[in-house]
Amino acid sequence: MRALTALAETRTATRPRAGALPVHLRIGLLGLGNVGSAVARVARAASDLLETRGFDLDPVAALVRTPSPARAAAASLACLTDDPEVLFAQPLDVIVEAIGGVEPAQALVRRALTSGIPVVTANKTLVAAHGEALTGIARANGVGFRYEAACIAGVPFLGTFARRPLAARARGLTAILNGTSNAILSDIAAGSSFPAALERAQRLGLAEPDPTMDISGRDAAEKLTLLARLFGSLCVRCDELHISGIADVDPIDLRAAQELGGVLKPIAHASWSGRLFDAFVAPAFLPQAHPLGSISGRTNGILIDSVGGRQLFAGPGAGPDVTAAAILDDVCETVGSPESSYAAEERLAAIPRLPDMSAWFIRITGDVPAAETCELFAAQGVWWNHSAELSGRLYVLTFPASPARVDAAIATVGGAARCTATAFHALPDEAFAC
Ligand code: HSE
Repeated sequence: MRALTALAETRTATRPRAGALPVHLRIGLLGLGNVGSAVARVARAASDLLETRGFDLDPVAALVRTPSPARAAAASLACLTDDPEVLFAQPLDVIVEAIGGVEPAQALVRRALTSGIPVVTANKTLVAAHGEALTGIARANGVGFRYEAACIAGVPFLGTFARRPLAARARGLTAILNGTSNAILSDIAAGSSFPAALERAQRLGLAEPDPTMDISGRDAAEKLTLLARLFGSLCVRCDELHISGIADVDPIDLRAAQELGGVLKPIAHASWSGRLFDAFVAPAFLPQAHPLGSISGRTNGILIDSVGGRQLFAGPGAGPDVTAAAILDDVCETVGSPESSYAAEERLAAIPRLPDMSAWFIRITGDVPAAETCELFAAQGVWWNHSAELSGRLYVLTFPASPARVDAAIATVGGAARCTATAFHALPDEAFAC
């Protein structure tokens, strides 16, 4: 009880007041990997700027798996421990969770919030799985729980929309949410191999510790659940989404997309009505003129189909320094306004499904004349719009057709014509609905 009282007093004392001296905020870091280290480094490097805004951000303690004072980021910390009891015994004003994954992050965040300590995190896996419950705990304890850095870290839009319910009314969105996948496809288009492009993304600190999270589309899917919660008031289970990764995309696909006037991008797409949530996370063809068509490298982008019109945001989505900056801004906001930024709201459990109709970008390999293959597709109700031949393959852009018809057409050409066909979604440049 004494500890709780002390913390409550600390929080009251640390809220910035107009004209007050810089507020000293003692930050406890959970994890000191890429992100945790960057938080410690950026807090020190930006101390002059932060001070002019009234904040003295002071990373004082870190909980790590293996305490090693040799770590550069550890040098400035008063406490480096592998024992949560030791960390929670420190006088802390804010906790930054930078462990990643669900456990032990969830248990530690829960403990911090119930102890009255605000928490900031960039952990989309945690927020996708437990965001609703953790926000509830934060609200019940009158402390902040923020995760701006969890989705397009370099563009501060989550918290902004959370505070602006009318602006956040939306029917759908199309987005590039994974910097690693986007960077890999951009590098492959520029002549790199997949392994070299992945290695580069890892070297730049873009990729997750387990990069299959990026490549498989899972990371983007987790971020999509955060967006569905914010813009659609829907709770989406990641496991129920249709997700495919970029591993199946090769350099010829990228060149063929270009021949057909577009690009292949790692896309998260969703539109909703009531509980129905039509969505996919997958590499998709976009016309070059699409607002997301020119977003390359680590850059992320989101096109929101708002009730008032389309809104486009783009910016860096990955990288330790970008993430650290978003976290530290959240730290300032959390302490300046201690209530949770993600307000209480009735949210419905979404029913995810694939969009009814989509245009498709189809790769066909096999020694069958294009006219014959075209007829086989047409017999299944899938009509070709444009096609191109490249490196012994046929690439086709179709008119909108249902996934069932496309599956049937692919099965037909596979059987009758011994072709192998792979279909990617193709988005129009104007409408959101597939
Ligand atoms: N691995 C993630 C990405 C980091 O590449 O987008 C930012 O969430």
